[in-house]
Amino acid sequence: MFSSSKTTPAVQGADGFLSHIKARRTIYALNKTLPISTDRVQEIVKESLLHVPSSFNSQSNRVVVLLGAEHDKFWDITTAILKSIVPEENFASTAARMAGFKAGAGTVLFFEDQDVVKGMQEKFALYADRFDPWAGHSSAMLQFAVWTALEAEGLGANLQHYNPLVDQKVQQEWSVPSTWKLSAQLVFGGKAGEPGEKTFGPLEQKYRVFGSA
Ligand SMILES: Cc1cc2nc3c(=O)[nH]c(=O)nc-3n(C[C@H](O)[C@H](O)[C@H](O)COP(=O)(O)O)c2cc1C
Repeated sequence: MFSSSKTTPAVQGADGFLSHIKARRTIYALNKTLPISTDRVQEIVKESLLHVPSSFNSQSNRVVVLLGAEHDKFWDITTAILKSIVPEENFASTAARMAGFKAGAGTVLFFEDQDVVKGMQEKFALYADRFDPWAGHSSAMLQFAVWTALEAEGLGANLQHYNPLVDQKVQQEWSVPSTWKLSAQLVFGGKAGEPGEKTFGPLEQKYRVFGSA
């Protein structure tokens, strides 16, 4: 079951949940020293995968977790692919960025199963054009859930998008079905630095409410 290595937040109800939402940040400075076991990381990913919603409960999300040497391999593969396309004079900064990701402890690969999307399009023709974006929404919810839950356990993480460049190699290396479309990569590890400054535009420009209870 989903046991927590951390104490329950002092704040109850939505405030406890919101405190984790606020605390989740992009952390690029990562190391390989995790404050929790890799079993616990997997438990978090599996629980999120199971419980995050999907349109019509279609369950289009698929996940591959790469740990240790497999994580290193993913970033070596990505670096090699980028080296073949990034101009030589720009590659130093790309290589430094890749080294930063490889310095982390693991990567969660998020996929959307196109077999599921296709099946839903056939079954519910009325919504045929909606199932692809809805699979994307469900994937985003899963990415956010995992990112936030890992933060709640004291890890750092950042979200990357080297798909579709790496898709074919990923399929070959980790025997991923060709119907699984890669949508994002969440790099995680021990926190080796602080997040950058984050600014917020005025809420008044983004939010409207009408009526009252
Ligand atoms: C849909 C989406 C795509 C993103 N893609 C990338 C990415 O490819 N590379 C990256 O370094 N950060 C990426 N980010 C992270 C954002 O830049 C970051 O979340 C944003 O600047 C706010 O900072 P915070 O995560 O610290 O709150 C992405 C975030 C979202 C929600």
